[in-house]
Amino acid sequence: MRSENQQQRTEDIPAVCGGHPVREAVNRLPYARPQILAEDIRAVEDVLHTTFLTTGPAIDRMEAHLCEVTGARYAVAVSNGTAALHLAVMAAGLTEGDELITTPITFAASANCARYVGARPVFADIDPQTWEIDPAEIERRITPRTRAVVPVDYTGQTPALEQIRELCDRHHLTMIEDAAHSLGTVYRGKKVGTWGDMTTFSFHAIKTVSGGEGGAVLTDDEELYRKLRTLRTHGITRDPAELQYPSEGPWYYELQTLSMNYRLTDIQAALIDSQLNHLADFAARRRQIREKYDAAFAGIPQLILQQSLPETEAVRHLYVLRLNPDRLQIDRRQFFDALEAEGVGCNVNYIPVYRLPYYEKLGYERGLCPQAEALYASMLSIPFYSAMTDQDVDDVIRAVRRLCAYYQKA
Ligand SMILES: Cc1ncc(COP(=O)(O)O)c(C=O)c1O
Repeated sequence: MRSENQQQRTEDIPAVCGGHPVREAVNRLPYARPQILAEDIRAVEDVLHTTFLTTGPAIDRMEAHLCEVTGARYAVAVSNGTAALHLAVMAAGLTEGDELITTPITFAASANCARYVGARPVFADIDPQTWEIDPAEIERRITPRTRAVVPVDYTGQTPALEQIRELCDRHHLTMIEDAAHSLGTVYRGKKVGTWGDMTTFSFHAIKTVSGGEGGAVLTDDEELYRKLRTLRTHGITRDPAELQYPSEGPWYYELQTLSMNYRLTDIQAALIDSQLNHLADFAARRRQIREKYDAAFAGIPQLILQQSLPETEAVRHLYVLRLNPDRLQIDRRQFFDALEAEGVGCNVNYIPVYRLPYYEKLGYERGLCPQAEALYASMLSIPFYSAMTDQDVDDVIRAVRRLCAYYQKA
């Protein structure tokens, strides 16, 4: 159906280029969507028949499953990936005046986690080939106030994690890997989940494994694990080994520090636990689609593809195209609109975080990270998810190719 629409839309191309409003596309292919299978629905139903709707056995199962999948020793399930980052920063002890280094090409949460505790995010520029945070740029921005580095596995690829691990060790910094995009990715033979002192995941609706919402912090460090468990639920502990005063009875608990309610429900945990059973299949399908896109787009001079480190076996969450302005007559906005007019849903991941008005008001200035800004000006994300059919993938490839050919600069 969409292919027919595309045939019909070929005539529309000059109108789009001329800035006319884009017509509502029929059968629009979204840029992302979850894949929920019958057994996932049954797993959720099963929980609804139990007495535990929150913090019950499904949480324990999901946490154990995450440890099994990643090789980490401990997992703490929380309400979303943002909560995971916030708790990781709290557990690392960051406070007012401290600095945390991260990439600008990420969702705001990777930087906001510093602000929640009064710390200052510092943005290090990206590598122009991989679009991941550049370790040399991190090193350049370390000051006596730096306490943590938050490398983000942008699109599911990774930055040079070994170098970042090494520089964190050398400067005594906590490494909190934001792996919201990279569940299942392997770097130098070791799974994402064990490179950082803590690793955070998101199970937002469109992530490879979905819980609607959901998150987790993984660590190999028992002390951090204990802190994270307490911080997840207000800062309350019932563990006899941790109590400050003798227990007054079975009801007794102590609030020892101030935190939030960042608990995940058992309903979501059951969905995530069940979805984790499909991770290998979802990853294989994402790999297939990525290979098909890479092969189709590689020789097109109008496009620049994200390079991956040879030591990274990625499970991609996003597929991002960079447009080559020297070879195209139209800019990113026009290309975006034209693809949407072809029924191909797009997005832009991401606006450099420091350019968002909240950060501008804090004094961050444009031009801080030139590579990140150049990437932002010319990139867009195209449909990429495990539930895409071969026909969907072909439709996207055909539409992208046609626009590149039509708008090529001589
Ligand atoms: C890189 C990155 N970090 C953190 C988050 C926050 O995760 P959540 O939406 O689960 O709070 C996201 C969200 O999509 C993300 O893409």
